[in-house]
Amino acid sequence: MPPGTGADSPALLLRGGTVIDGTGAPRFSADVRIEGERIVAVGANLAANGAAVVDAGGRIVAPGFIDVHTHDDQVVLSAPPMLPKLSQGVTTVIVGNCGISLAPLVHPDVPPPLNLLGGADKYVHPTMAAYVAAVDAARPAVNVAALVGHSTLRVATMEDPYRPATPAEQARMCDLLREALAAGAIGLSSGVFYATGAAADVDELALLAGIVGAAGGVYTTHIRQEMDKVLDSLDEAFATARQGNAPLVISHHKCAGPANWGRTVQTLAHIDAARRDQPIGLDCYPYIAGSTVLRSELVDGIIDILITWSTPHPEMTARSLASIAHEWGCSQVEACERLQPGGACYFQMREDDVQRVLQYPATMIGSDGLPHDQHPHPRLWGTFPRVLGHYSRDLGLFPLETAVHKMTGLSARQFRLADRGEIRAGAYADVVVFDAATIRDTATFELPKARAAGIDLVLVNGEVAYRRDADEPGRSGRFLARERSSGRVLKAGDVAAPP
Ligand code: ZN
Ligand code: CU
Repeated sequence: MPPGTGADSPALLLRGGTVIDGTGAPRFSADVRIEGERIVAVGANLAANGAAVVDAGGRIVAPGFIDVHTHDDQVVLSAPPMLPKLSQGVTTVIVGNCGISLAPLVHPDVPPPLNLLGGADKYVHPTMAAYVAAVDAARPAVNVAALVGHSTLRVATMEDPYRPATPAEQARMCDLLREALAAGAIGLSSGVFYATGAAADVDELALLAGIVGAAGGVYTTHIRQEMDKVLDSLDEAFATARQGNAPLVISHHKCAGPANWGRTVQTLAHIDAARRDQPIGLDCYPYIAGSTVLRSELVDGIIDILITWSTPHPEMTARSLASIAHEWGCSQVEACERLQPGGACYFQMREDDVQRVLQYPATMIGSDGLPHDQHPHPRLWGTFPRVLGHYSRDLGLFPLETAVHKMTGLSARQFRLADRGEIRAGAYADVVVFDAATIRDTATFELPKARAAGIDLVLVNGEVAYRRDADEPGRSGRFLARERSSGRVLKAGDVAAPP
């Protein structure tokens, strides 16, 4: 039987819990009945009627979390139990962000940043259809929806991806993109911040975004610059999405570097103004440190930098760049160069900016976790419980209903994932049961690989995928193809309203 059809799983009744349904609406007490892969009833005092009963008394019953910003393309194949995500209550990951997707590309030795996906030699899927088949064969524990990376398209079609693409190369990119959309990809991502995407102008990006827009997909972007040129970079993203007539998602929005701290007041007002004319969403992770490959222009001698991996110097992993430079008797920039290829956490943001972006109504939660790093940023294991526990409960940044909405209903709507992200009859039974009083991230920059506290039970497509203290998670995830119905299409100014 194919995974997740649920025909062999008995009915399940989650009894006595408090439902937060993902729409942003206030919580209510209800039982939830699941048959096969779907929720069939939500209401008071539902009869067991042959169902296995799970006591959810004193617990929140919420839609499984959707991690809208991941680089999990390869790890869903190579480590399908997906414990870092499942243990947070994540039931769906969106892969292919920041211009980097594993497919469609066959290449023995990709350049950075494509090597973020677990190595330079992992690119073996000539088409998105081949990647979809690989996901189905791997049977990951979470659902997978895929963006097509613009840098991947460039590396697939250009000898030299560091220059503008010729019309013939652009035409080839369009062909690859069309195939990927036909295979179910949900949109296009770009990373013009990175060298492999940087030579593209708005016309090249909008040509591709236009194909995505016409197919009902989304366009996401890691903008060109998140420091002093952040407003110009946002304008470039707005123009691209407008020209391509595609809904836009700004990836991991931030104002980086001490000179730009506090400027999210400006950038969010700028985004607000643009949202009157076009649909725009954001994603954000709840930490003041970013993480990516080692890049010397991010080394300013002021911010702390923590090494997450280094091919020539693996012994320097988990150490600060400043201490390595001191030991080597060189500048931090020089040490950064000697450590490459490698990765790092950059403590480049300020807390008030992070909170302002998290609170913004169009902001969804995305981990941006890097699953192949030796000593990963703790966002890989801690993002979702940190928003629910630290930011919502402990700091009172927003109600729990809003926190859940930002990781479920809003995300499903922005990325057009049909019948996901809500607790209601007819929706897929992606469900997380957690304790609002104890949910907490335990992953830290010192010890980043640690399961969340307070997550009791996770269901994916109606099957038990995770129980606290159980070792081997279930594997009932599947590839989620783009919604093809003409159903809900986002319009300018359109986000699901928080309560
Ligand atoms: Zn990025
Ligand atoms: Cu990313």
